[in-house]
Amino acid sequence: MRRSLLAGLRVHSNCATIYRNTSNKTVRRELSASAVMSDKFKLPARYGAGEKSVWVEYIQLAAEYKPAVNLGQGFPDYHAPDHVTKALANVATGENPLFNQYTRGFGHLRLVQNLAKLYSPLVGKELDPINEILVTNGAYEALFSAILGHVDEGDEVIIIEPFFDCYEFMIKSAGGVPKFIPLKPKPSQDGKEMTSADWVLDEKELASLFGSRTKMLILNTPHNPVGKVFTAQELQTLADLCKKHNVLCISDEVYEWMVYKPHKHIRIATLPGMWERTITIGSAGKTFSVTGWKTGWAYGPADLMRNLQVVHQNCVYTCCTPIQEAVARSLEFELARYDSPECYFFSLAEELVSKRDYLVKILKENGFKPVVPDGGYFVMADWTKLENKIDLSTEPDRNKDYRFTKKFAKEAGILTIPPTAFYSADHRHVGESYTRFCFIKKDENLQLTEKLLKEWNAKKN
Ligand SMILES: Cc1ncc(COP(=O)(O)O)c(C=O)c1O
Repeated sequence: MRRSLLAGLRVHSNCATIYRNTSNKTVRRELSASAVMSDKFKLPARYGAGEKSVWVEYIQLAAEYKPAVNLGQGFPDYHAPDHVTKALANVATGENPLFNQYTRGFGHLRLVQNLAKLYSPLVGKELDPINEILVTNGAYEALFSAILGHVDEGDEVIIIEPFFDCYEFMIKSAGGVPKFIPLKPKPSQDGKEMTSADWVLDEKELASLFGSRTKMLILNTPHNPVGKVFTAQELQTLADLCKKHNVLCISDEVYEWMVYKPHKHIRIATLPGMWERTITIGSAGKTFSVTGWKTGWAYGPADLMRNLQVVHQNCVYTCCTPIQEAVARSLEFELARYDSPECYFFSLAEELVSKRDYLVKILKENGFKPVVPDGGYFVMADWTKLENKIDLSTEPDRNKDYRFTKKFAKEAGILTIPPTAFYSADHRHVGESYTRFCFIKKDENLQLTEKLLKEWNAKKN
């Protein structure tokens, strides 16, 4: 039958007609155009196997199993500051009809002017709002434009693991070669709480990655998912290597305002000799707790920013005008009260620290070993002490943390994210015994998490 099917195949323009002999009758069959053309239209090789990202997979998981609490994706489940959401409502329905039309492609004027006002004192240099700042479709597009705007065929890019998963994809789609180095947890001392500062780079291993093909280093501080806030000394080591090997630094600082005392966020662009080789990335979504607004930015020296502009003008052209106007007004509002503790840039971390401490406490009480983050809004927690309480054999995934998070979501009703999604294939073992919890959630949802953790543990005893 199979042979006769193939033998009778004829291709007519965009469909195939099959003549098949069944009970001495000739039968016509149409094959769909896509079946015939599928080979031609398969995903280009530079995109790899086109696997689902962890976000796509876990959003589906949440839709299917409806866990009682979602501590997976990094976004608040409560309102942004009033003035921020009101700004958008006022812009969209206000008197100026042009706020609902296209605006300047490289960034709405009022927004880039306010970004320059915010960052100039922080980087110790008067920023040119026109040539040194680009507004993007979330920090995501700032990364895209920075990577696609600089990485050439065969260029090597150093990525610190765990890493925000799109870095690798973007580098490869530009023809670049990612070179990975994991942050490694120092061996834990009995009874001592582990913090994100205990996750460090091996300096010799780091230096060995830099060479003549190295084009770029991607830094993320404060770090997702570890919560590490790179120290002045750690940043100096990275800066010295970048300068020695003439390497560009992309500094992803979307969690810049979520740093817990006594730690301080240091912008690598402010280190001597680094401004000219650094592109710094920020996010209005993270800064104002409006991740759905998908508005971000990149800033750096004009000659480097030009390369981002070229990608942006041809892929995106311009970002959403009313949201840019609303972010500009929100920045103005916060800049006017910058010296007050009420300024959201500072009150946010104050608000989050008690959530962090509460989550760390309940995780410890329920068999996890959390890594206390110095920044960001995630906690990585070692779950291996719970391994004897959970049957992972029913989950088919290759990595243990995927099996744990899926089974745990189904049994305990708590959705978390498997950190091996943030590692290259060779280094997944470093993250397999952890899971990532997000704590920018309503207090009542963190309390519900405690209840669910206790109930799950009680069932297992
Ligand atoms: C480290 C890091 N970089 C970039 C982004 C993307 O930010 P945005 O939502 O502004 O595109 C995220 C979002 O979670 C992130 O965690």
